[in-house]
Amino acid sequence: MSSNLDSKLRYELPKEMKWKIGNVEIPNRFVLAPMAGVTDLAFRRLCKEQGAGLLCMEMISAKAISYKNKNTRALMEIDPVEHPISMQLFGSEPELMAEVAKEIEEEPFDILDINMGCPVPKVVNNGEGSPLLKNPELIVKIVKSISSAIQKPLTVKVRIGFENEPVDIVEMDAIRALTDADQIVVACGGGGIPVLSQDNHLKGASAVIEKDLAAGKLAELLEADMLVILTSVDNVCLDYGTENERPLSSMTVAEAKKYMEQGQFGEGDMQPKIQAAIDFIGDSAIRSVLITKLHVDGSQVTPGMGTMITK
Ligand SMILES: Cc1cc2nc3c(=O)[nH]c(=O)nc-3n(C[C@H](O)[C@H](O)[C@H](O)COP(=O)(O)O)c2cc1C
Repeated sequence: MSSNLDSKLRYELPKEMKWKIGNVEIPNRFVLAPMAGVTDLAFRRLCKEQGAGLLCMEMISAKAISYKNKNTRALMEIDPVEHPISMQLFGSEPELMAEVAKEIEEEPFDILDINMGCPVPKVVNNGEGSPLLKNPELIVKIVKSISSAIQKPLTVKVRIGFENEPVDIVEMDAIRALTDADQIVVACGGGGIPVLSQDNHLKGASAVIEKDLAAGKLAELLEADMLVILTSVDNVCLDYGTENERPLSSMTVAEAKKYMEQGQFGEGDMQPKIQAAIDFIGDSAIRSVLITKLHVDGSQVTPGMGTMITK
C-alpha cells in the first residue's frame, strides 16, 4: 500500500536504468558510495535488499593486504548476492598496488576502484588518498601499473582537489564596487558556493569551502588592513578546555605558526581561523587580524578585546 506521501517523494526514474563499467552491467543508477566503517557486509546486504544497483566496499589498504593483515582479510569478504560490487584499494606505491591487485583479482569483486580522495589525516600523512591529486605523474603510474596487471575493470574515485581553500571569489568586482560605495556587503556566507571553471563556464562543485579561509581570501582581495573574525569565544586560548587554559591578547604570525604545529587549535574550529590570519597577514607589517566573540547584543568590537594577530 502506498501513501500520498510516498507518491510525492517518489523520484522520476530515468527510463533506461542499465549502465556499464567495462563489461560489468549495473542494473540501475543507485550506487552505494564506499564508506569506511559504514559499508560493511551487513550494511551492503541491506542496501542491496533496498535496490542499490552497485555496491562499493570500504577502502582497504594495499599495504595491509601485502602484510597479510587478518582484519583486512575480513574487510574483503563478499556475499554472492552482492554483485555487481566494487572493491576499493588505497595506497601510493604503483608496484606494490599492482602486485596486490593481481594477488586479489581472484576474489569475487567485479570492479576494482582506487581511492584518490580520502582526506583523513592518518591516510593523507602517508601520501595516500587525496594527496595523490597533487601528483599527476604518480596517478598515471598507479593507474597504468594496476590496469596492466588485472583484467577486471579499474576505476578511480577522486575529489575535486586536495585543498579546500578558495582560490578566487567570482563576484569580487561587485563586492569591491559595493564596499567602495560604503555599502555593507554580506558575501561568501558559509564559505560561499563553490564553483569550478570548465571550458567557458562555471560549474557548481560538490565541495565545501572552509568559511574562515573564504573570509581571509575576501579580506586579501579587498586589500583590507584588518580582518575581524567573530566567533563564540572572547579570545584565542592555549590549552583550550583544560585546567591550564590561557587566553591570548596578542600573538605574532610566527607564534601562531608555532602553536599550530603544537596542535593547540581545534581542527575545523579555531585552526582555520588562525590559518586565515596567517595567510591574510603574510609578510605585511600593516595587516592585522582580530579574533573575538560575536556579541549578539550588538555591542561594538572595542580596543583591548579579543586576540590581535600581527606580523
Ligand atoms: C563515514 C564516511 C566514510 C567514507 N569512506 C570512504 C571510503 O572509504 N572511500 C571513499 O572513496 N570515500 C569515502 N567516503 C566518501 C563518500 O564515498 C562520498 O564520496 C562522500 O560522502 C560524498 O558524498 P555525499 O555528498 O553523498 O556525502 C566516506 C564518507 C563518509 C561520510
